[in-house]
Amino acid sequence: MEFKIKHTDKDSKARTGIVKTAHGDIQTPIFMPVGTAGSVKAVHQRELKDDIEAQIILGNTYHLYLRPGLDILQKAGGLHKFNGWDKPILTDSGGYQVYSLSGTRKIKEEGVTFKSHIDGSKHIFSPEGVMDIQRKIGADIMMAFDECTPYPCDYEYARKSMDMTHRWLDRCITRFDETEGHYGYEQTLFPIVQGSTYKDLRKQSAEVIASKGRDGNAIGGLSVGEPAEMMYEMTELVCDILPSDKPRYLMGVGTPANILECIALGVDMFDCVMPTRNARNGMLFTTEGIINIRNKKWEDDLSPIDPALGTYVDTFYSKAYLRHLITSKEILGAQIASIHNLTFYLWLVEQAREQIEQGTFYSWKEKMARKLMERL
Ligand code: GUN
Repeated sequence: MEFKIKHTDKDSKARTGIVKTAHGDIQTPIFMPVGTAGSVKAVHQRELKDDIEAQIILGNTYHLYLRPGLDILQKAGGLHKFNGWDKPILTDSGGYQVYSLSGTRKIKEEGVTFKSHIDGSKHIFSPEGVMDIQRKIGADIMMAFDECTPYPCDYEYARKSMDMTHRWLDRCITRFDETEGHYGYEQTLFPIVQGSTYKDLRKQSAEVIASKGRDGNAIGGLSVGEPAEMMYEMTELVCDILPSDKPRYLMGVGTPANILECIALGVDMFDCVMPTRNARNGMLFTTEGIINIRNKKWEDDLSPIDPALGTYVDTFYSKAYLRHLITSKEILGAQIASIHNLTFYLWLVEQAREQIEQGTFYSWKEKMARKLMERL
């Protein structure tokens, strides 16, 4: 995998670039829609490509391993063939889902024992096993197996957990480097910085991760309930240590304002369930601000959803119709709202790229971050 920086902002640490993968190029900064179980919920692959113009999507090791399982994915020739998405895919390692989804789990040096949220069956994830699984899934970008610490987290726990994440990383790297992809194209491995909200731990972790010299690096353990200012502080500290000639991926972040602020700190890649999950609940991110479409205020508003985005769903359907669909729990409501919110997120990062290249990013960001979070 290759990363080329195109332009660096003079007023902030923002930059634009291109990540080159076996399944095509990704223009950064980029937002990656989350497709946990091999599908971005309520959105067709054709809509993802043609309407939303997604450049890369996420999958989850934990979910895909449990269902449909590796035999079927391998028989299909990998996830790209199975779900029909022929652009880049990044898979998270399960180092987050195991903690958030599995009620009963045991974390040991060897790995994590957990029970499936589907049928209660017992499984073990080790760093080596998780590399083997992501090889079989065939993700272009594979993530290291880590422990995402909760917030708040006491210092001793955060330190011990971070040290274990680092030892797990060495095992991931050994396994990754001694194996090859199953489908004839190159895959790459991103390590993950941890260290909770402690500056000294974050610094130490970022130095360890930087020293591995991988193609790209991720920042984990943030956006888990800490104040936004604390998330920005940790992100800035870590970005300043991670190599500037490699893409930086901030995991699980965030709101439109979070994304703009973190682009300014030097982050290149983002993912978050917020645009899709909130869409299904009727929360729309628009170019004018945030809309709760369930609100009675929109009951007879026959204006298009967000004409400034110019896409089919945003110009064709009215707010009143979408409100009717969402309040009636019609499946089409979730589809339209999800396409809208993802189109908005991809528009946002595209605007950020244009502003960086024109040298106007910082002042634009200051104005937009405020405007986009206003509740209409
Ligand atoms: N997604 C959001 N945060 C994290 C994290 O810390 N680790 C992993 N593996 N995935 C995440």
